[in-house]
Amino acid sequence: MAPQSDSCIAIVLAAGEGTRMRSSVPKVLHTILGRSLIRHVLTATETLRATKRIVVVGAGSELVVQEITEYDAEVTTVLQERRGGTGHAVRLALESNPIVNDSIIVVVAGDVPLITGETLQHLAKACQNSGVGAAVLTADVDDPSGYGRVIRDHENGILKIVEDRDATEDEREVHEVNSSVYAFQAGLLKTALAELTTNNAQGEEYLTDAIEIIRSKGKKVVPVVAHDYFEILGVNDRVQLAEATAIMRDRKNLELMSHGVTLIDPPTTFVDVSVTIEPDVTIRPGCQIEGATTIARGALIGPETRLFNCVVGEEATIIKSECDGATIGRHAHVGPYSFLRPGAHLAEGAKVGSFVEVKNSTIGAGSKVPHLSYIGDATIGIQSNIGAGTITANYDGVAKHQTVIGDHVRIGSDNILIAPVEIGDGAYTAAGSAITENVPPGAMGVGRGQQRNILGWVLRKRAGSDSAKAAEEAKES
Ligand code: UD1
Ligand code: CA
Repeated sequence: MAPQSDSCIAIVLAAGEGTRMRSSVPKVLHTILGRSLIRHVLTATETLRATKRIVVVGAGSELVVQEITEYDAEVTTVLQERRGGTGHAVRLALESNPIVNDSIIVVVAGDVPLITGETLQHLAKACQNSGVGAAVLTADVDDPSGYGRVIRDHENGILKIVEDRDATEDEREVHEVNSSVYAFQAGLLKTALAELTTNNAQGEEYLTDAIEIIRSKGKKVVPVVAHDYFEILGVNDRVQLAEATAIMRDRKNLELMSHGVTLIDPPTTFVDVSVTIEPDVTIRPGCQIEGATTIARGALIGPETRLFNCVVGEEATIIKSECDGATIGRHAHVGPYSFLRPGAHLAEGAKVGSFVEVKNSTIGAGSKVPHLSYIGDATIGIQSNIGAGTITANYDGVAKHQTVIGDHVRIGSDNILIAPVEIGDGAYTAAGSAITENVPPGAMGVGRGQQRNILGWVLRKRAGSDSAKAAEEAKES
């Protein structure tokens, strides 16, 4: 019977400097569709149900440790203070953690964000077969330069891996490359790592040399060929970051479409991995849907809309708008050109129209803020209408104050509601009002100066002007 090991340990290598990113941010903290590279890799390792997950981090990587802890405080980190090579990194991880010899150890580089959980499972399983000491994820690539080459034996197993810089002319011709993703029998790996040398072009302990050593102990090393070469794509610079982003976008979009979401133009639709979208939602071109956003059935989003951490209800429509931390109720309508900021809450059937900014405010069911407004720190009841150009003056230069508007209210156009202020149910306000006092229910609030017309002013003060001429003609007719 094959020796079955039930415990699996995942080791993620993330101590490299990532100098080619030319960034002040550690490489593995760069994000793709809202998730850091290291978090993508750690998420993929979840399928392994590992008894322990260890990440090897480099000197000065407090931020990386912080990100890992935020993801899952159970993940262990090990500090590799100087770059001693991939073999050295794994050795450190094993030395600082008690690991039983019959467990399976899965090793993944921290910069391969497209690796999938299924592939890791596959690899771990391949390593559980009797006589197998290790399994290596490989891929056939058009341009193998820079990668370690996989040298096969007569039985289609792996004989060894040769690094690009250490390879012979013949070996360089090989297009099957090492992905830096492996599964090992723990006991064998420990033995092999103890035998590594630094006799190579980079003077480092290569994890890849463990393959030949395991072979020399009479165990097989089997290849698992990635069916999709993208899975092994390492992110070393901004070009590869963009390439990986495009692939991840396509993956997420395919998943959405297969679950019944209509994407009019998938290449311009960027949906974070953390977003949930129900069937029969339509996303028009040019949208970014990010963070913890959820969109319910039948909603229509876009074109050119960004949603971040929003909750969108059934059949809501959001056209050409920017929404951050907003809740948009069923059948509500937003846009075009609306800006919803954190705490904006639109109840069922509410409407926020063009050039309207809403912050920390509730717009009640069926209420409308259709044109050119700022609504901040306000509560609006149901079925009220806010006239064009109305602004809640919520800030007196020191503190923020509340505006409370009741049900079935009609605020005239171009009002300034100077908070704190309350407009009672069923009240009206006159167009052009500056409302500083509460308006009782059912009252008409008028907050503006009496108009006076100075007759003949233009004829006297602007005699001979086109305006004066027009006025004369109007008098004569
Ligand atoms: C490595 C492999 C190569 C493979 C390639 C795939 C070795 C010797 N070579 O080469 O066969 O084709 O990946 O991308 O393993 N790291 C540490 N500590 C170290 C060195 C590296 O944690 O001391 C980490 C890096 O952060 C990275 C991973 O290990 O996540 C791989 O290191 P990298 O320098 O990128 O190795 P390559 O030269 O690309
Ligand atoms: Ca690399």
